[in-house]
Amino acid sequence: MADANGLFVSFEGGEGAGKSTQIRRLAERLRERGHEVLVTREPGGSPGAEAVRHVLLSGAAEMFGTRMEAILFAAARNDHVEEVIRPALSRGTIVLCDRFMDSSRVYQGVTGNLEPDYIEALQRVAVNGVVPDCTLILDIPAEKGLERARKRASAVAAPDRFEKEEMQTHEKRREAFLDIAAREPDRCHVIDAQRSEDDIAAEIAAIVDKRLAAANIAAGSEAAQ
Ligand code: TYD
Repeated sequence: MADANGLFVSFEGGEGAGKSTQIRRLAERLRERGHEVLVTREPGGSPGAEAVRHVLLSGAAEMFGTRMEAILFAAARNDHVEEVIRPALSRGTIVLCDRFMDSSRVYQGVTGNLEPDYIEALQRVAVNGVVPDCTLILDIPAEKGLERARKRASAVAAPDRFEKEEMQTHEKRREAFLDIAAREPDRCHVIDAQRSEDDIAAEIAAIVDKRLAAANIAAGSEAAQ
């Protein structure tokens, strides 16, 4: 991050990969060590983006087509970046974001069949230079992930617009996330999410500790210039 002192970490993956649990655990660990941490999510994370989240996840925009949805995700992302993420990073905060631009590449780009150029153009405008320093891709076979997501959903709420799709679509998304990781190995880490919660948390902690050391961010102090 050229103009920031914090660390921007995004979490990606399919349904039921355990992102929220791992984000919570990492946030607790970092806070215990004296870091300033902001946990946020997409679509959403700022008042403007949360309003758009409802339109997207309820399926209200579905009838207007994938392009419209992709633009709405990008609009929400840009508001989130400018109102919340960029200011937090410039204060030296560690930002943990549940989904970010790679979700648009995968959900709208690959399984939504939108041209890569179109998606990339939208992402450039949406993130406006604020690209994650580190992206943790929680990888789980579609079948296992869906099984977990279903258990959770039956206890909480009906599946959202993007959770309803077929197994094949979910597997395609898994491959698309792995492709991104292969193309951008400096930014992305693939985490095997079939292991125990503790093992996954330990691997994530090690990766983030390394990133913090490389960025010269010490716990409980101002980030180095
Ligand atoms: P959410 O309830 O936050 O689910 P999850 O636990 O799976 O992250 O729902 C977000 C949904 O929106 C999810 O199905 C993925 C989808 N999505 C996109 O299609 N494109 C995007 O750019 C983002 C951020 C999310």
